[in-house]
Amino acid sequence: MSDRTFYVTTPIYYVNARPHIGHAYTTIVADVLARRHRLLGEKTYFLTGTDEHGQKIERSAAAAGVHPQAFADQVSGSFQDLWRRMGITHDAFIRTTSSRHKLAVQHLFATLYERGFIELRTYTGQYCVSDEAFVEVAPGEPCPECGRITETLSEENFFFKLSAFQRPLIDLIESGQLSVTPETRRNEVLSFLKGGLKDLSISRSSFTWGIPVPEPAASAASQKHVIYVWMDALANYITALGYGSSDDTLFRTFWPADLHLVGKEIIRFHCIYWPAFLLALNPRLQHNSSETPPVLPAEEHSAWARTWLPQAVTAHGWLLFEESKMSKSRGNIVRTETILDAFGPLCPQPEGAADAAAAPPQRDLFAADILRYFLLREIPFGQDGGFSFDALITRYNADLANGYGNLVSRTLNMVAQYFGGSIPEPSLDSPAGDDPARSERRAMAAAIRDDFHTLQERLHPLFDRYAFSDYLLEVMRLISRVDNLLSTAAPWKLAKSSQPEDQRDLATILFVSVQGIRLATALLYPVLPFATARAWAQLGLGSLEEAAASGELKLLQWADLKPGASLGPLGAIFPRADKGLAQKMTDMETPVAPASTPAEPVPAPVAASAAPEQPAAQPTAQPTTPSSISIDDFAKIELRVAQIAVAERIPKADKLLRLEVDLGTERRQILSGIAEWYTPEDLLGRRIIVITNLAPRKMRGLESHGMLLAASQDGGKPHLATVPDEAPIGSRLK
Ligand code: MSP
Repeated sequence: MSDRTFYVTTPIYYVNARPHIGHAYTTIVADVLARRHRLLGEKTYFLTGTDEHGQKIERSAAAAGVHPQAFADQVSGSFQDLWRRMGITHDAFIRTTSSRHKLAVQHLFATLYERGFIELRTYTGQYCVSDEAFVEVAPGEPCPECGRITETLSEENFFFKLSAFQRPLIDLIESGQLSVTPETRRNEVLSFLKGGLKDLSISRSSFTWGIPVPEPAASAASQKHVIYVWMDALANYITALGYGSSDDTLFRTFWPADLHLVGKEIIRFHCIYWPAFLLALNPRLQHNSSETPPVLPAEEHSAWARTWLPQAVTAHGWLLFEESKMSKSRGNIVRTETILDAFGPLCPQPEGAADAAAAPPQRDLFAADILRYFLLREIPFGQDGGFSFDALITRYNADLANGYGNLVSRTLNMVAQYFGGSIPEPSLDSPAGDDPARSERRAMAAAIRDDFHTLQERLHPLFDRYAFSDYLLEVMRLISRVDNLLSTAAPWKLAKSSQPEDQRDLATILFVSVQGIRLATALLYPVLPFATARAWAQLGLGSLEEAAASGELKLLQWADLKPGASLGPLGAIFPRADKGLAQKMTDMETPVAPASTPAEPVPAPVAASAAPEQPAAQPTAQPTTPSSISIDDFAKIELRVAQIAVAERIPKADKLLRLEVDLGTERRQILSGIAEWYTPEDLLGRRIIVITNLAPRKMRGLESHGMLLAASQDGGKPHLATVPDEAPIGSRLK
């Protein structure tokens, strides 16, 4: 093992919603990088976890009617279960509600307070609960980041003197000491920094679900404060290593982080707030509040940054589903479990297994490989990428079933058939004579050998630049080259020839193909850890995990494949997937109303909710409408006052608007068929009435959960039912 260490982190995910493939994407990329750095012999630490404090979580828990801790336990558990099913190799999973984390965050806060970088002030501003951040907009205006309505908060707050770090941060990023990639994100951060930094409010007193501000700061305030959730969350990267605790061995070994991997929407938090907190820990920076911030020479910051700041932050783009960002509030998420459950049954039965079906963990790992490959191959890292089930199946069949998997089976079956399963002896350099077919196949085989090292040298930097898609494309090219060699040389024809030269070529072609497969398998290992381990064992090479740990995969040597060695037991790697699987996955994602739920009313033209794309099944005999209903019948309908927080058009849907309505304790997405009569601007901020207990349903891939009340005459404009401004949001109409 080398002396080099590699510490990679993912964002810690909010526990207000269950994981979807957007979260899986970041975690997969981190896992791929961790596996790669381990095989390079670097001592690697991979951290992920959950972000469990803040108003957003407090409100989600209240909406679910449970204590925030119970709520967080449940959702954090679902993240951990999913990573286990997928074979993610994180070294630690941090939860911000753990007592170790809480104590360490208080230690961080107290240190910054002591140094004079935190002080108490009163602040009034617009707060975006969804982003957990104060934003610079006028009261009543939506958040510039996410478009949701902001709330006016006036609070006595602790402030962090962020403004003191504008210059050092610009210097560190411009000099590359803090690497921010891709370029677009670096420019975004730099222009934000150059626009000037305001001090940052880092406590909240309007709710309690957070880490209490510690003494002595707590006694200085007239109210109880909790620490701002972003300070709490960002600190996870060091608290997980034991910062602020009695055992900081990991911290001394792995900090500073080599890479914080994040989605593009949280780049500023990671490239501005986080490094500023860390710079402020420098003991040479005592700040007396009555003075202007201390100015340290750039070299001082730079020296501190070398041991205290992460080396790199890289941001990937968003996974889009039907053209918009996949997110819980939009309801257009794809759950990773759907993909595991749909592809898992395709997992080939391992040789000698008694059951017809592979064991569940194997199936999950097999299916996880498919998602890993798709996300890394399909989306150029750093850019947004569309996800669809059809694309997933097409890519799987093309590259994995027909490409890699087929090549492995084809080649190894021929080695088994013609050489009794032992690796044949090549004679690559024997003269080809003047037979053009022989010359051609020998030249193709020799070219694969000659490129064996250079290909690895070419590919490794692509990986280090996160150019996963290009990297995988190159591996697929290698696979096509070997495939072409087999098609051109037609070993099955050579096998029938009695000429010694043909027999020699047969051995050579199959030897070179096995080498090509061995190389492709080693190169694919970080992305396809499960499938490549199976292929490696079939090649007779034993455990791929052991080969990775021993450093053998760092740079494969041609000479390490020994003629005469025996193949392992053979079997399929990636069977073809039927296109029908796409529909199966779509169905798995569509919520089905429980049998006991009464049939949903078909929205009359007056009801301002869109008709579903798939009309709800109608009973054949129409029940007679009772002339009157009981009060109990009416009580079943839950009508509440809501405020429209977000309104937008849906691409390619002329009649539909996507709304997010604030119900006080939660925010809902409702799709409404009123686009012909209302523009999004007409609607923002309006107080309306919503039927809240309708079962959710999907339209155009988006979930609609509720219906607006409106009055209209046949086909005419629906007039939204409204309530006076004094009617509290969330109150029930009875
Ligand atoms: N809790 C904060 C992060 C704190 S880190 C100190 C947070 N959590 S989150 O649950 O919203 O997760 C955000 C991260 O999940 C994104 O930065 C990204 O890594 C991943 N993704 C969530 N949705 C995604 C997509 N639709 N597409 C790609 N990645 C996505 O922000």
